Amino acid sequence: MEVIIRPDAQAAVKLTAKIMADDLIKKPDMVFGLATGRTMEAVYAELANLHRNCGTDFSLAKSFNLDEYIGLPSEDKNSYRYYMNYHLFNNVNIDLRNTHLPNGIAEDLDAEGPRYEQAIVDAGGIDMQLLGIGCDGHIGFNEPLSSLASRTRQKALTPETYEQNSPLFDNPEDMPKRAFTMGVGTILDAKRIVMLVTGAEKADVLAKAVEGPVTSMISASALQLHSRVVVIVDEEAATKLEGKDYYNWIFQNEPEWEPYRSM
Ligand code: GLP
Repeated sequence: MEVIIRPDAQAAVKLTAKIMADDLIKKPDMVFGLATGRTMEAVYAELANLHRNCGTDFSLAKSFNLDEYIGLPSEDKNSYRYYMNYHLFNNVNIDLRNTHLPNGIAEDLDAEGPRYEQAIVDAGGIDMQLLGIGCDGHIGFNEPLSSLASRTRQKALTPETYEQNSPLFDNPEDMPKRAFTMGVGTILDAKRIVMLVTGAEKADVLAKAVEGPVTSMISASALQLHSRVVVIVDEEAATKLEGKDYYNWIFQNEPEWEPYRSM
């Protein structure tokens, strides 16, 4: 795992988007794993900007989102399908047929997870998985105690997640209590993982995920088991990290990061 600390959220977002766009240039038919949440809105705005102004080409790209609320149809403005269309897909030249989310209104809720897993396999697996983190340490909607081997399935959301996400609904009580989410095991199968964490309210959980023990109580700590993870954070989120100096030293000295240091 590498941790890159940028001075502010805007710089962290720009770096995340640039890494994604550079991987897309190297592999135009990238399969992205995508995330939602407030943090990612700025990443998608930056990718749209790179598409408009630098010709970043999504025409051959495919995507699989981490999760979707159960019971919300795609046209509901709180569904993650609506979010993705609004923030990214409608603003770049991706073929909508190549964009995938779990179906929140699937008739057979038990069959939806395996169907989604198979679709990922059929696409050749996820090349890069973008992640945020919930205040309870979740990645996707893998709430505390999610098995580190879990696959896409239904999950009941915690009161903490409800508190974090329900203000995004016009009527907070409309937030579903269950969601489909890729499992921790599904996420760990991605070839590369980029996690973006910004803001002081994430500092505690970030330190637990990165420097604490691997535990199903903090799903994001499972990323320590993956061989190619970069965690991009801003100064505010980094305040509780004990190894800050070491992480900065790596960023300054590792040749892979040379093109990104001046951003
Ligand atoms: C939701 C998503 C997560 C995301 C989290 C962070 O719960 N299921 O994938 O990481 O939001 O949200 P925010 O960026 O709003 O803090």
